[in-house]
Amino acid sequence: MRLILLGAPGSGKGTQAQKIQENFNLVHISTGEIIRENLKNKTQTGLLAESIINKGDLLPDELVVEMVKDILSKQEVKDNFVLDGFPRTIKQAEALDKITQIDKVIFIDVNFDYTKDRILKRRTCPLCKKTYSDTLVCPNCNVTLIMRSDDNEETINSRFKVYEEQTKPLVNYYKQKNLLYKVDGSKTIEQVYKQIEFILNEGKV
Ligand code: AP5
Ligand code: MG
Repeated sequence: MRLILLGAPGSGKGTQAQKIQENFNLVHISTGEIIRENLKNKTQTGLLAESIINKGDLLPDELVVEMVKDILSKQEVKDNFVLDGFPRTIKQAEALDKITQIDKVIFIDVNFDYTKDRILKRRTCPLCKKTYSDTLVCPNCNVTLIMRSDDNEETINSRFKVYEEQTKPLVNYYKQKNLLYKVDGSKTIEQVYKQIEFILNEGKV
């Protein structure tokens, strides 16, 4: 299965992608996570990304497309993946169309009031990368959870604006291709996952 998870910052893309990865055996590809790893390792991409991420802007399309193209070229990934945070612009979607054929696009629809609050409460485990909102220590790895540098009020507002202007048009882009499935992202994590599971099992005996 070749999937895309589409949604605003904090809509639950990462959370749901992790569950899909575990239950459907797909490779979870998060461009945000890859960029943050580059940042941590101070690679060339990381050095370029730092100020862009902290402003809430997007990295250049060409750079991110190359990153994803590279990963999708791997035999074990090419027909079994869930993309989280990519594509994010029409240009990226058009480039992706040239690389592979997508089966389904899940749009997690949720209001900004919910997502802003979620993002401000989010803490991530530096080791297993799981996110939490109700604890300061990872229950699996027993290390202190960290906050993302772009999870502050000013950057969040700018990320929302960028989403509205550059990413939201993808909803129509994929609707026109008959690939779009919308889920209600305001429900609990489990309830959102149930909606996704239903869509992914559709057509299966
Ligand atoms: P990225 O890392 O993709 O961030 P984002 O799109 O802003 O989304 P988030 O990761 O903040 O939210 P999410 O939807 O994953 O929510 P989560 O599951 O964590 O991108 C970061 C930056 O990298 C970009 O700004 C850009 O600069 C750059 N970048 C990345 N991709 C790029 C691209 N393609 N092109 C160019 N630049 C790119 O959930 C949030 C919190 O809520 C968690 O604590 C979670 O536990 C909780 N939660 C989730 N669902 C629920 C629920 N249903 N109920 C209650 N709580 C919930
Ligand atoms: Mg995420």
